[in-house]
Amino acid sequence: MGVTKLPKSNNQSDKKVATIVFGCQMSERDAETLTTLSADLGYKPTEELKEADLIIINTCCVRESAENKILGKIGELKRLKENNPNLKIAVSGCMVQQPGALAKLQKRAPHVDIWTGTHNLHNFPAMLEHSHAKGKIAEVVDTPLAITELPRREKGKLRAFVNIMYGCNNFCTYCIVPHVRGRERSRPAAEIIGEIKDLVANGCREVTLLGQNVNSYGQDFTPTYDFADLLQEVDQISGLARVRFTTSHPKDLSDKLIESIAQGRHLCEHIHLPVQSGSNSILKSMNRQYTREYYLSRVAKIREIIPDVSLTTDIIVGFPGESEDDFAQSLDLVRQVQYSQAFTFLYSKRSGTLAAVMPDQVPLDVKKRRLQELMKIQTEASLKWRERMVGRIYEVLVEGPSKTNPERLTGRTRGNELVVFNGDSELVGKLIPVQMTEAGSWTLVGEVVYNGHKEQE
Ligand code: 5AD
Ligand code: SF4
Repeated sequence: MGVTKLPKSNNQSDKKVATIVFGCQMSERDAETLTTLSADLGYKPTEELKEADLIIINTCCVRESAENKILGKIGELKRLKENNPNLKIAVSGCMVQQPGALAKLQKRAPHVDIWTGTHNLHNFPAMLEHSHAKGKIAEVVDTPLAITELPRREKGKLRAFVNIMYGCNNFCTYCIVPHVRGRERSRPAAEIIGEIKDLVANGCREVTLLGQNVNSYGQDFTPTYDFADLLQEVDQISGLARVRFTTSHPKDLSDKLIESIAQGRHLCEHIHLPVQSGSNSILKSMNRQYTREYYLSRVAKIREIIPDVSLTTDIIVGFPGESEDDFAQSLDLVRQVQYSQAFTFLYSKRSGTLAAVMPDQVPLDVKKRRLQELMKIQTEASLKWRERMVGRIYEVLVEGPSKTNPERLTGRTRGNELVVFNGDSELVGKLIPVQMTEAGSWTLVGEVVYNGHKEQE
């Protein structure tokens, strides 16, 4: 099947598409693309599964727990399909792309109409049409297509994800991502800048640049143009208030990049720097290509050049061979760095990765106990980080009503801390000063500062 030309928009239709996303920001961005492509075929987005004519599930396979949840969700949709035989169900993304996964998935969920992997999103309209005209279809291709992003049509979206590169060359031994996303391919800078300018012209104020390892952006270009160059250029885009990025591999975090963040006006002082483990022997066995000492020296450099930087991380507990002493090294590193937030994971065996066949797999009860200990220490650190912010005034980009308390507004600081405060809905989309008044482990409470005065004064 070739690459499909985008059909013209058909807004006359009353068909509806519901999209369910599992996994990382890249999965979220792919799901947006599939939703846009469906809109081009006349499907209007809905959040109600029951009223949908098309349900897309964009999947993740990074951990077994995600896969189990997704399989449960796909199973639940069977009933909807029985009630509405015209409903089309599409399952896409990393879980389908895993080598050898498709046949097993098809057998387990015969009610799914369209199966597609990560490399052929552009063919989705043709697959959808095929499913209407001829019945079920599955398409998983091994080789990624040349990078051509679809034009974006979102209007008035305050914050947007922008892909800057695809794939990963690092092969951390626990990770399935290089097996499903292929090798690193960078998007041309001019295309990225053009996309961001379009987003800004349509109301966007903040972009998050996405890649599995943004720090190796441009390594496939000659002459060299690296991630710091790209950030400096994005920083100049008129009307854009904030620039974020994720994810950074510590081994490729250059001084030039740290200095660019410090100097950039719109580049947020937040670096997500996954450490994965604090033990040198585990880092080696994970193939992370840095030592604990190197990681800590990068953290020291970042803090020297960007003193107020917010650092976040990912950590895995229970990697094969992780002893109590190795785990204690992770706890010690977390205490030492004082991250504002950490995403903590139980090691999950992924078939096809090197770690899956390593000896000394750690028993589940030990992994769970270690996770609890780690989370306890990190929760204290997160609280301490936020308590330190109380009394100070921060620039906040107002996002909209709070999900838990719709009477109030929420927004984020440049460090990506979530803040809840009272204010008029006209503030949405604006950068405003907010004084922090109260700290929790996950959020802060604040008060808007109007002309130097807090709201209640
Ligand atoms: N088991 C547990 N966590 C994993 N991650 C990636 N692969 C695995 C796995 N097999 C975590 C890493 C990565 C984050 C996105 O997911 O910490 O940074
Ligand atoms: Fe996976 Fe490592 Fe690549 Fe991140 S850098 S996507 S953890 S292989």
